[in-house]
Amino acid sequence: MSDFATINLPRILRVGGGASRELVPTLRQLGLHRPLLITDPHMVACGYSGALEQMLEAAGVVYGLFGECVPDPTTDSVDAALERYRKGDFDSVVALGGGSSLDTAKAVAALALRGGPMRDYKVPYPLDDGLPVVAIPTTAGTGSEVTRAAVITDSETGEKMLCMGLGLVPVAALVDYELTLSMPYRLSADTGLDSLCHALEAYVSRRSNPFTDSVALTAMRTIWRNIRTVCREPGNRPAREAMMLAATQGGIAFANASVTLIHGMSRPLGALFHVPHGLSNAMLLPEVTAWSLDHALSRYADCARFMGVAAASDSDRVAADKLVEGLRGLTSELSVPTPGAYGIDADAWIDALPLMAEQALASGSPQNNPRVPDAGEIIALYRRVWAA
Ligand SMILES: [Fe+2]
Repeated sequence: MSDFATINLPRILRVGGGASRELVPTLRQLGLHRPLLITDPHMVACGYSGALEQMLEAAGVVYGLFGECVPDPTTDSVDAALERYRKGDFDSVVALGGGSSLDTAKAVAALALRGGPMRDYKVPYPLDDGLPVVAIPTTAGTGSEVTRAAVITDSETGEKMLCMGLGLVPVAALVDYELTLSMPYRLSADTGLDSLCHALEAYVSRRSNPFTDSVALTAMRTIWRNIRTVCREPGNRPAREAMMLAATQGGIAFANASVTLIHGMSRPLGALFHVPHGLSNAMLLPEVTAWSLDHALSRYADCARFMGVAAASDSDRVAADKLVEGLRGLTSELSVPTPGAYGIDADAWIDALPLMAEQALASGSPQNNPRVPDAGEIIALYRRVWAA
């Protein structure tokens, strides 16, 4: 491991209520004139896309629209968006939506300058250039507006492919909490828990560094203090604002320190059983943390003290145990189901365990965990999560 950290960030971050209304000045500042707006049908139906289009039209900006992004984006959906790109003369991409739309747009931006199928560009291929992307997140969760990654499912094989590179880091992110005010309970909970995992995993990651530590700790404290409020009171503006900032900070933290075992074990639940990303992380969060605890006791204790679930005077042992207790309490309070309660068939789960462990290890994330598991230990952990 090297002594220095490498940090990648967007060139512009505009953060706060109304930031998305700065789209035209942002494009102008970056010298971008012909954007393709990429979003999903919900954003079109609820008028968020229309609001951006009005701003572009009022400013005389020639733009195109692709509004058919799908959840868990596939290579087919990326290809459809690329077809729209090739029909116009676009110099940039504006990405509006949750992680799925942002990842689709980032993939389009990277593939626009290249031929060939997406699978040619999965990790470890360095996707270091692409069209400029201006990202406007509408959930407080994935952090995709600041990361150098996109997850795209291969339509032919079903594999969830991780693609990474500097070309996938948006040049600008307009982080506007007002776009999250209408998020329903489950989405607020799941995306917030995803952010909490980003911050916690980044802090205990073997690739953590002093830069990511500070943003990770701040993000997890903010999430801990506000997640219940945004679920209970969707229109609570100060809590929404806090969660939106924390989600972007969590994104900055994991983008530059990596996620660990929770995300590594979570991706197969999405790929094989279609559990939404944030929810599958949340199902794993307490048990994976408990299993990892003793290998980074003081780091987990820092988290507990910073979040306020442990007292400053608690020993590392006591504080770290309180963290696990707190995470169990939070996921239960936010009605996170077990895999069985979610509806996954017990036999299908047992049959899939070896494949899930293989996919988890192949993602590379478990190797950044304080306690590095082998396939047998991952299977045992999945069993524990089932029985939790
Ligand atoms: Fe995530």
